Amino acid sequence: MQNDHAISRRAFLAGVGSLPFLLSTPVTGYAANLPLVTVTKDPSCGCCTGWAEHIEAAGFPVRIVESQNIDGLKQRLGVPPALYSCHTAEVDGYVVEGHVPAAAIQRLLTERPAATGLAVPGMPAGSPGMDFPGVTAEPYEVFLFAPADQKVFGRFRGGQEV
Ligand code: CU
Ligand code: CU
Repeated sequence: MQNDHAISRRAFLAGVGSLPFLLSTPVTGYAANLPLVTVTKDPSCGCCTGWAEHIEAAGFPVRIVESQNIDGLKQRLGVPPALYSCHTAEVDGYVVEGHVPAAAIQRLLTERPAATGLAVPGMPAGSPGMDFPGVTAEPYEVFLFAPADQKVFGRFRGGQEV
């Protein structure tokens, strides 16, 4: 009895000791085995953090990179200027620009269209990360874009496809 107790206490302490490591490392092997989402954001922008939390809540491992030159990254990744928003993310070979709902990213990764990625231009009210208390969610479009082509991928309100 005494012994078992000592062992479980040691296991508990070992678990606590490894927490900082877990928190600072991209976590792989989530329940649904979703790929890592790397979010590049301006340090002063807060809605991007709200979006990252939405993505994490959907089960994606998330890594946040702060940058003062996000437009340079958008250019390099081929985001059309007309589709610019605040943060830019990369997931499994695709670019995700702005407040794209997790449901759209999940469909993108299932359907795997030949495209650069998804974008929600601007910052629609009520979209993930822009869903502040008291805000009335407006419908918005998620675009699928490629170097020479853009089309509507889906219409959403809040995080839901409509
Ligand atoms: Cu934003
Ligand atoms: Cu932001």
